[in-house]
Amino acid sequence: MMISSGSGCKDRIQYLKWTLTIFAPNKALFKLQEQNIVRNRKVTMPMTQQRATARAHPNIAFVKYWGNRNHALRLPSSPSLSMNLAGLHAETTVTWADELDEDIFTLNDQRMTGESLSRVSRHLDALRARLGIAKFAAVESHNNFPTGAGIASSAAAFAALTLAGTAAAGVSLDERELSAIARLGSGSAARSIPSGFVQWHAADQHEQSYAESIAPPDHWALVDVIAVVSQSHKAVGSTEGHRSAETSDLQGARVAGAAERLAICRQAILERDFTSLAEVVEHDSNLMHAVMMTSRPPLFYWQPASLLIMEKVRQWRAEGLRVCYTLDAGANVHCICVKDDADAVTQALGRLSEVQEVRTAGVGGGAVIIEHSLPT
Ligand code: PMV
Repeated sequence: MMISSGSGCKDRIQYLKWTLTIFAPNKALFKLQEQNIVRNRKVTMPMTQQRATARAHPNIAFVKYWGNRNHALRLPSSPSLSMNLAGLHAETTVTWADELDEDIFTLNDQRMTGESLSRVSRHLDALRARLGIAKFAAVESHNNFPTGAGIASSAAAFAALTLAGTAAAGVSLDERELSAIARLGSGSAARSIPSGFVQWHAADQHEQSYAESIAPPDHWALVDVIAVVSQSHKAVGSTEGHRSAETSDLQGARVAGAAERLAICRQAILERDFTSLAEVVEHDSNLMHAVMMTSRPPLFYWQPASLLIMEKVRQWRAEGLRVCYTLDAGANVHCICVKDDADAVTQALGRLSEVQEVRTAGVGGGAVIIEHSLPT
């Protein structure tokens, strides 16, 4: 196997040990995989293929996830709440195949290597451990939105990978467990499994930290109008960012107030109360960026254009448009608005020379299987 060299091998075994602690019944499988990683041996089994394709949407958080209580298991420091983004998706096909002697990952028809492949392979390890599979997989993924458009692709990617990998194995897991497993690949992926408006629980145990829908997509016609101000790749990715959160003196205060902000946000969504929603969404985004900026070393994701748009959004709201802003680990500004005001917001953003591109997305559904074939 390709993954048997150097320190990557140790990391891989450490990760398998973690998955073993949460999926305890599969000890024999862990042994098999550990031997294969260490001794560079192939698994020989009868030739069969199991394949499934799943689709999942990215999501935008209204109450943010930033920082973990357990980094290996991506157990978040605080609960979060998001909306899935309709029209944007990752479509992923997983084929578990006897004839493979390593995992293969292609993204938008490009064969991936290095850290992208390792991250997918680690997630496949978790699926292998949970599903009792001792085969490698071919993973083919396509995003219908460009990277660098201000939309985090990892949430959709790991939600689709989890569902496709599970379905391809002929196993049907409930939504909670799918969400908890997706979380192991990328925390926010937990929120891309359920439909519509979604709450992700913070907990000390793997099984308890899953996301669930609080309202379906048609509950409230909100739109995310994304102002793209930078296409450049973020300097510090979220995995590293989550680790740095605890170095900020402000993280404790952010986490302490998270449950209350979530309750306010949840209530605002359930009551379709845009005024309350706008206040808590902007405040929560500002709090997360305050933590980022006061981490050591500091992380500055905002650019001058981001701040300008944030000010404009507040001005437009004062003038009557139902719009508020939120920013993830990047400079692009997500302008959350009610559908009736989405055109006006899009046009106003289009008039700003700092805005390179505007993309819109309504409220999306949950992850779904779109194709499934088991060996005959
Ligand atoms: O799932 P990750 O590790 O990419 O973290 C996502 C973090 C933010 O997008 C900044 C906030 C959030 O809750 O989505």
